[in-house]
Amino acid sequence: MPVTIGSKESTFGDPLGLLSDCHRRIERFLRTLWKIIDEKGGRSLGGEYRRSLEAALKYFREAAPKHTADEEEDLFPALRGAGRAHVEQILSRIDGLENDHTRADKWHRECDEIGKRWLRDEHLCLRDTARLRTVLLLLATLYQSHIAIEEREIFPVAQTTLSDEEKAAIGRSMADRRGIAFGAERQFTAITPG
Ligand SMILES: [Fe+2]
Ligand SMILES: [Fe+2]
Repeated sequence: MPVTIGSKESTFGDPLGLLSDCHRRIERFLRTLWKIIDEKGGRSLGGEYRRSLEAALKYFREAAPKHTADEEEDLFPALRGAGRAHVEQILSRIDGLENDHTRADKWHRECDEIGKRWLRDEHLCLRDTARLRTVLLLLATLYQSHIAIEEREIFPVAQTTLSDEEKAAIGRSMADRRGIAFGAERQFTAITPG
């Protein structure tokens, strides 16, 4: 069950496009985890399932936190600092999104712990199997509304409100976070996303 990474990717020159690309990866890896628990139900993992589980856990452990940092350390502060009329209406939304990040982070850590046990022991006990299903459902529900708010309310305001210089600064910081030279037009790959 290979994990497929989309072929169309934005560059750091379009940080808001890049953040949306990251959402597609979050959705894809969540679907991967759900498919594994749904099809294997805590039983022994074959080679393909094991590789898919390892890849999804690695993504949420190492890459997805960079996406959260892109928003909490770059995009949200830029919007809060903009002080422009139509930004004011989305500030309370941003507070809610940061709360979501905290809740998601806790569930991702739990998912990672259970997933590692699965990889180590080759099977999951009934309790872990049930809990993994619950946590994945909680994450899927959270991300559904979270991503919708970001893409329908926050990113469009950022796109029209922030100046080209402000957006470039966000893109530069996102590239720095991943150790990639800004302006090299190097695209995200499956190895270095967030
Ligand atoms: Fe977010
Ligand atoms: Fe996001």
